[in-house]
Amino acid sequence: MMIHLTINDQPIQVPEDRTLLEACREHDISIPTLCYHPALEPYGSCRLCMVEIAAPGRPARLAAACVYPCEEGLVVQTDSPAVQRSRRMTVELLLAGAYDSPEIQALAMELGVREARYKLPEADACVLCGLCVRACKEIVGVSAISFIHRGMSKKVSTPFEISSAVCIGCGTCVLICPTGRIRLSDVSGLRSVHFTSSEYNRLYCQICDDTDRDLAPYFVPDHFAYEDHSHGKDEPHAQK
Ligand code: FES
Repeated sequence: MMIHLTINDQPIQVPEDRTLLEACREHDISIPTLCYHPALEPYGSCRLCMVEIAAPGRPARLAAACVYPCEEGLVVQTDSPAVQRSRRMTVELLLAGAYDSPEIQALAMELGVREARYKLPEADACVLCGLCVRACKEIVGVSAISFIHRGMSKKVSTPFEISSAVCIGCGTCVLICPTGRIRLSDVSGLRSVHFTSSEYNRLYCQICDDTDRDLAPYFVPDHFAYEDHSHGKDEPHAQK
């Protein structure tokens, strides 16, 4: 079934399972995002993708486009003064905690914010977008990290804030983090994930026999072999 709605005064129709963000992107309407990733379930935490929506009989309000489903008859504005104000305030707050992040800086420039009025002591603070937590769970499938504590104390960590027994050292959390908060180093055959205080011996390529071309931590091929062929039969990697 197709849904009919109006976005920026243009009548649009999309399949019924689309979010507003997906509908906009399919029609080349740009909306800034931070916590959205097409490979992950939408989460709606950063609030950068706010749009103004109005439905018959309901007052206009702001909603996060990445999690809001397209509804029949909805009227959407993606660049109204209220939307611009909301996004600028949001990106300024993100910039306050992660002013060294090129990704946040680029978003701020795009939204016309050159400098944050406030600055946290750390230039690369976690902005709690949840990308690392969701990637670890939904893409890698190990859930080595999650959010802990609440309010001002909320942060991403391993259980009990100690080195994780299930982390495979794949580095997915490092690659997806927009602020560079999670760091990884590969030195002399040893991978360290500094955020989780974990260290992993790396596996060398058996084919090229070149010890400068190490592949990945031992846990990574173990984990994916288990996921591909043995799910439900054997335990995944044992600590080496
Ligand atoms: Fe929608 Fe973050 S991209 S809330």
